[in-house]
Amino acid sequence: MTEFEYSPQPTRVVFGADATAALPREAERLGLSRILLLSTPGQSELARRATRDLDSRMVGHFDEAVMHTPVTVSDQAADQARDLGADALVSVGGGSTTGLGKAVARRTGLPHIVVPTTYAGSEMTPILGETEGGRKTTLRDASLLPQTVIYDVALTRSLPVGVTVGSAMNAMAHAVEALYAADRNPVTDMLAVDAIERFASALPVLVADPDNLDARDAALRAAWACGTCLGQVSMGLHHKLCHVLGGTFGLPHAETHAAILPHATAFNEQVVPELLAPVAETLGGASAGAALHGFAARLGAPMALRTLGLPKDAIDEAARIATENAYANPRAVDKDSIAGLLGRAWAGDPPASTADEGYFTERNSTRIVTARNEAANVRLGHVMDAVTRHLHAAVKEIEPTQDEWMQAIQFLTKTGHACNDWRQEFILLSDVLGVSMLVDAINNRKPTGASESTVLGPFHVDGAPELEMGADICLDQKGEPMLVRGRILDTAGKPVDGAKIDVWQANDEGFYDVQQKGLQPEFNLRGVFRSGEDGRYWFRGVKPKYYPIPDDGPVGRLLQKLGRHPYRPAHLHYIIEAAGYQTLITHIFDPDDPYIHSDAVFGVKQSLLANFRLIEDADAAEQAGLSGPFYLTEHDFVLAPTR
Ligand code: BEZ
Ligand code: FE
Repeated sequence: MTEFEYSPQPTRVVFGADATAALPREAERLGLSRILLLSTPGQSELARRATRDLDSRMVGHFDEAVMHTPVTVSDQAADQARDLGADALVSVGGGSTTGLGKAVARRTGLPHIVVPTTYAGSEMTPILGETEGGRKTTLRDASLLPQTVIYDVALTRSLPVGVTVGSAMNAMAHAVEALYAADRNPVTDMLAVDAIERFASALPVLVADPDNLDARDAALRAAWACGTCLGQVSMGLHHKLCHVLGGTFGLPHAETHAAILPHATAFNEQVVPELLAPVAETLGGASAGAALHGFAARLGAPMALRTLGLPKDAIDEAARIATENAYANPRAVDKDSIAGLLGRAWAGDPPASTADEGYFTERNSTRIVTARNEAANVRLGHVMDAVTRHLHAAVKEIEPTQDEWMQAIQFLTKTGHACNDWRQEFILLSDVLGVSMLVDAINNRKPTGASESTVLGPFHVDGAPELEMGADICLDQKGEPMLVRGRILDTAGKPVDGAKIDVWQANDEGFYDVQQKGLQPEFNLRGVFRSGEDGRYWFRGVKPKYYPIPDDGPVGRLLQKLGRHPYRPAHLHYIIEAAGYQTLITHIFDPDDPYIHSDAVFGVKQSLLANFRLIEDADAAEQAGLSGPFYLTEHDFVLAPTR
């Protein structure tokens, strides 16, 4: 029987790529006109920039927030708020600044808006940890909840990799402890798993590309979810240890979370393995503790308390304080086991393993396989973890018979055998599964206004002849004549001079020259043109027709069995290159083609539909250098600037 209590919390959340733009609106809603800005000294400049739209309502800036929220600093800031007659607080920063904001709000009763710049999550909790005389005490009270939290994804872009990882591991700790908290509820369960999944995919991306806005978005959403968990449930051993190590021994907050979490998790996993199973499933590892250790280490987090400044002889004392006044925890704590746990964390060793889980079972398959991998290349490790996780999940859903598994192996074998120097059946497989278009979409996110890309296809040939503008690329005069024209522009609408425009198309029977060697002239329906100062291009070709992708191999047979046709709607291929711009690989399509809504390789995009018009006017034909009716196809391309 499920039993739980759930009290939603009243903090308003505004989340977005540029959410600080909402600050004036929020100040207006709350009727604020005398705001005291809070930040650390290091983020003083950033805080002022992020809140510049509030300048007319700002009465002061206290920029002396420090770690662990010492009461002396909070008293000082509260005095300043009173002296200035402030009617609100806006905190811009990480956990230290949010903590200061809460402490001042508690002392003054002022409303509080928080703009988090890290993943600490404190903004979503009614919790305040303050230090006085070397001891950290925590207080939980609904009045500590900020009125509004503004999550601005762009603001987190400047977070250095080390802080990103430390702060995210801090947030992850909230999610992990929420999974086994006695007062957890279905909402925190969902948020915790969602947050761990988002961090699992976003963090490896951010380590390689800290500026990646999509990964920043995922990480900040995860942080919100983690903070919400922390605000809903009580904390256990992990948080207690971090509070002792931070409050009493001065260890850095976020890094301490990364070093302790695997050990605290492994300790609790002995009694609640089923509650922690999602951690290992998501991160990949033989156990939740091992998974967290591997994950944090792969991200480059410092994993030894030794390197974070804890003297070895402090371990016993830390264990004593942590167990004297322990937080509620699923597994009972005693000083000796906690000293053992801290000893491993001090040395940076992996956590003590739970029961020997070294044998493969249907249930732990993913963990066992991913735990075995120790790729020196971080990206390879991440890729293989993801592939293993999803492949095992598919196999578990499908439950193939041995025969079906063998058929799959034979299909892949035949696909391999169908490949040679001029035929790539695996690319074709990727095409018909939509994978090629997905990879293209991920790698070609264009600024608004720029032309969209699509698949290259297997029929591009290097070294096609460079032709005079207006030349006819159809060398055998077969097909309905077509004049193609348009402009190459930049995103500001300015013509691009000297763009190299490489075009190729199938003939009116649907074949490329390379598919009909001997039947079509070499380089038939291919040409390279260069735009002039006005960005214009024009050439002659033939009206393209739909054609089947090569369907006489295993991929063609698969399509048939899936009830799918192999056709691509009529199109023209382009590769457009110009200095200072991203190369554009794309097509234009005939919108009236019967297969326009069912391209076998999913390459059609609305923005790539061109205008094909039949022109019967004799003068127009003459002007185009043609002797009778022809198709006029017009399309402009907009190039995105080089990243
Ligand atoms: C093509 O348009 O040339 C093409 C693209 C993908 C698969 C086969 C052909
Ligand atoms: Fe094609």
